[in-house]
Amino acid sequence: MTFISETAGSPRAPRHVAIIMDGNGRWARNRHLPRIAGHRAGLEAVRTVVRRCGEKGVAVLTLFAFSSENWQRPPDEVRLLMGLFATALDQEVAKLHEHNVRLRIVGDRSAFDPKLRQLINHAEQRTASNDGLRLMIAANYGGRWDLTQAMRRLALQVKRGALEIENIDEQSIQSVLSFHGLPEPDLFIRTGGERRISNFLLWQLAYTELYFSQLLWPDFGVDAFDEALSWYASRQRRFGRTGEQVAKAEGY
Ligand code: IPE
Ligand code: IPE
Ligand code: MG
Repeated sequence: MTFISETAGSPRAPRHVAIIMDGNGRWARNRHLPRIAGHRAGLEAVRTVVRRCGEKGVAVLTLFAFSSENWQRPPDEVRLLMGLFATALDQEVAKLHEHNVRLRIVGDRSAFDPKLRQLINHAEQRTASNDGLRLMIAANYGGRWDLTQAMRRLALQVKRGALEIENIDEQSIQSVLSFHGLPEPDLFIRTGGERRISNFLLWQLAYTELYFSQLLWPDFGVDAFDEALSWYASRQRRFGRTGEQVAKAEGY
């Protein structure tokens, strides 16, 4: 079974939604629970949003699961988060596959233990030929890490004589970034009330519509997500042009 698309092709539906799933710790603290309970509860919100993206015809969903900076958290939380990531991969991949979702993990995997790396590879391979929703999980990811590894790759191409310095342009930079080949995010959502990017997609957010929700991630459900989609649908995206130019081009 594939998720049924209600609005596929609608110009008002974002093609790519990128989410900073923030507020798990506060959700747990409010309930006098350990922080990991909040991360566990956050998994249900992930399931809801993945399902809804399928129904709404969103092509790509990127979820920020663990940032390059999150290693600075207490070792116990990091260890439990890695465990949760592994369990979730293990338990969810069959269902994702059944729903035609193609899963990819983006970030520096060299820091993960071999067991987790193996689960990642397995999940990616198993879902590689699916052509439904593309689910990107940013794990040990940072926008600066991505730009840094991209610069290294370009420098290597120059060193090998495969690329002239004069030919470095936006396209060649894109081609070595982790999200190459995917549309840039149309809609960015951050839950938990903070209004910052926290080293998420630095290059790709150049023209993304930014939406901030006060809800803590485990409380972010279908209605909240639909509200974000409605807000997005009401935006006029100008990409540097005037409002009048855009209205004319869209036939208003
Ligand atoms: C986001 O929730 C999840 C991760 C960063 C892994 P937090 O754990 O940051 O929750 P708060 O911000 O402390 O409430
Ligand atoms: C951003 O949340 C990273 C993830 C949601 C994975 P943080 O909670 O780590 O961000 P800051 O530290 O508040 O900026
Ligand atoms: Mg946080």
